Amino acid sequence: MKKILPVYLRVPIIFFAVFLAMEYFIDSGDRPAFLKYPMISVFLAVFLFLLIAIEMVVAAVDNVTYHLLTEEQRRQLEEAKEVKITDSKLYKKIKKWLVKDRPIEEEGELLLSHDYDGIKELDNDLPPWWTKLFYACIVFAFIYLAKYHIFGHDDQTKEFETEMAEAKLAVEEYKKTAKDLIDAETVTLLTDAGDIAAGKAVFQTNCIACHRPDAGGAIGPNLTDNHWILGGGIKNVFHTITEGGRDGKGMVAWKGTLKPSEIQQVASYVLSLQGSNPKDPKPAEGEVWVDENAPKEAGAKTEEAKTVAQN
Ligand code: HEC
Repeated sequence: MKKILPVYLRVPIIFFAVFLAMEYFIDSGDRPAFLKYPMISVFLAVFLFLLIAIEMVVAAVDNVTYHLLTEEQRRQLEEAKEVKITDSKLYKKIKKWLVKDRPIEEEGELLLSHDYDGIKELDNDLPPWWTKLFYACIVFAFIYLAKYHIFGHDDQTKEFETEMAEAKLAVEEYKKTAKDLIDAETVTLLTDAGDIAAGKAVFQTNCIACHRPDAGGAIGPNLTDNHWILGGGIKNVFHTITEGGRDGKGMVAWKGTLKPSEIQQVASYVLSLQGSNPKDPKPAEGEVWVDENAPKEAGAKTEEAKTVAQN
């Protein structure tokens, strides 16, 4: 029996192909399937074992058959083994299609009559692989010319720019879904009732010991007035909760305990308490906080106030 590949190549190749197929078809997230699902490893191990077992059985059967063959059959077998790949019809066909070499006996007919100091020249045709490549290049050039210079397909710069624009959109899209990517710069005030309720839950679990359940203030300052020690507004409040207050004041950084999305929720909840006037609040601390980026009306009002004052 003639085998295409020796056994020491066949077994690893089949095994590797099956391994790759499993990795390709089984969705295992960012970890390889054989690590995530131990059953896959078991399956692969059994598969490898069977593969080797089959090879051993086949080899044994071959061996036995060989001993049963007659002298004549053995000779035929040996001959068949000696057939090389270069003797196959397909190989010869391909070779003829690519290289049309004339046998050396015909060289005399090709020899050109002149002689350059003993150097003679053969009048060979160009090798077919070369001419074919040459024609292919001409065809390619026409396609290229038509595509980019006549029909105005995007060039590399244009392609790059569209791809970058698409990627930018994808990043925006991703940021919208990835809630925990927010920081004090990008955080926005949440107004959704669900988020405020979630923020309240976080507050009741972590913050009431110092700020009181109604946020009126105890060890920590009153969070419901418009006075802020560390700045009001969602960005500052988010920053204070994330990084903590001034050293030694008792307000720790919560970034190790709470996720950014939770900090955003509790910050939004705290701000929703503005002006809720709890009973018996802690006296105001800090300064009245004015948003520098406040809507224009506020600025217009101060302008107005100034003009009024001048008159
Ligand atoms: C161990 C007590 C303690 C706990 C618990 C605590 N805080 Fe504070 N908090 C303080 C103190 C004290 C300050 C004042 C910090 C300063 O003066 O720098 C403060 C300041 C603040 C401020 C800034 C107030 C301002 O006027 O600028 C916010 C907002 C705040 N805390 C929110 C929270 C939230 C939300 C939680 C729960 C996740 C929480 N705190 C948990 C003690 C606490």
